[in-house]
Amino acid sequence: MRTSRIISTGRYVPSKVVTNDMMAEMVPTSDEWIRERSGIQQRHFVDSEIGVSDLSFEAAKIALERADMNAEDIDMIIFATLSPDYMFPGSGVLLQEKLGIPGVPALDVRNQCSGFVYGLSVADQFIRTGMYDRIMLVGAEVHSTGLEYNERGRHVTVLFGDGAGVAILGASENGSGVLSTHLHADGRYALELCVTDPGSRKIPRINPDMFEDGSCYPHMNGREVFKHAITKFPKVIKEALDHNNLTTEDIDLLIPHQANLRISEAVAQRLNLRPEQMYNNIQRYGNTTAASIPIALDEALEKKLIKENDLVILAAFGSGFTWASAAIRW
Ligand code: ACO
Repeated sequence: MRTSRIISTGRYVPSKVVTNDMMAEMVPTSDEWIRERSGIQQRHFVDSEIGVSDLSFEAAKIALERADMNAEDIDMIIFATLSPDYMFPGSGVLLQEKLGIPGVPALDVRNQCSGFVYGLSVADQFIRTGMYDRIMLVGAEVHSTGLEYNERGRHVTVLFGDGAGVAILGASENGSGVLSTHLHADGRYALELCVTDPGSRKIPRINPDMFEDGSCYPHMNGREVFKHAITKFPKVIKEALDHNNLTTEDIDLLIPHQANLRISEAVAQRLNLRPEQMYNNIQRYGNTTAASIPIALDEALEKKLIKENDLVILAAFGSGFTWASAAIRW
């Protein structure tokens, strides 16, 4: 049976490192507060007008080289981000232009922290049906230019970082690769983690009040996010395992969306995982939303933490709320 598999990955983060002490010069916070609540020690920020299409182009070049492919070998681009270069068009076409492959379809995914796993599920379906052979899947974010650097926004601002991760998917005929994907959403919580403005329901769409009331910056009900994350993550991971007649013991590596180290720790505890079964790198990157899973996956592969035939589980939870998982036989 034809399935999809990840052929190669690449990651790219801007070179500017912002430590917690540097963050404390921008907003009233401290290294201690940030580490204690989130585990984050530093993040990368762009230092000029660089968009997600630029970051992902760098990651894409690495993934193509590792796959020994040219951009012309790609049949489709799927681009997950909540921080696109422009309101429209989406960043998929901008990356396609940089790659020099006009005519190739570019689909933009708007599922925030779950964007990469949602995108993986779409890529998997296209490859399983035989419609496409090779798909470039991107998760990329530039958060730093859209955060609120003051006391009102500090509980959000300290958590996020910029970066991009790319995976190239191809077909597999031997049963390895993506075993299953599982997607969920609950729009009743849409406004618990959001940026509402500028939005098309406002007249006029852009007005100075948005800066005053902070509605053009991310709003997060941290406690509500935490509460849902620590229950939805284990549930959707179990769903992927149950679907494939597997147990938590079978997991070789779980790569959760890097939301917050405290959330990952709570998930590991609830699933009774050994420390080596879960990969976390939020300490060095902050929360890079749609980019966090492909960046972590790329690092884990580079560190040879994943071997052939390993069971890799990807899982995400975030704004929407949306949550998702994928089981992959490497
Ligand atoms: N630095 C210093 N003090 C701060 C900061 C900061 N950056 N942010 C808030 N505070 C202060 C508050 O003003 C408050 O002070 P007060 O007690 O004098 O009023 C105090 O710290 C506690 O603030 P709360 O907002 O109540 O903090 P809480 O204990 O709820 O923790 C946190 C906030 C860390 C965000 C927590 O709710 C949490 O971990 N939530 C999970 C959310 C998350 O990690 N989201 C990740 C992004 S979303 C995703 O990827 C799914």
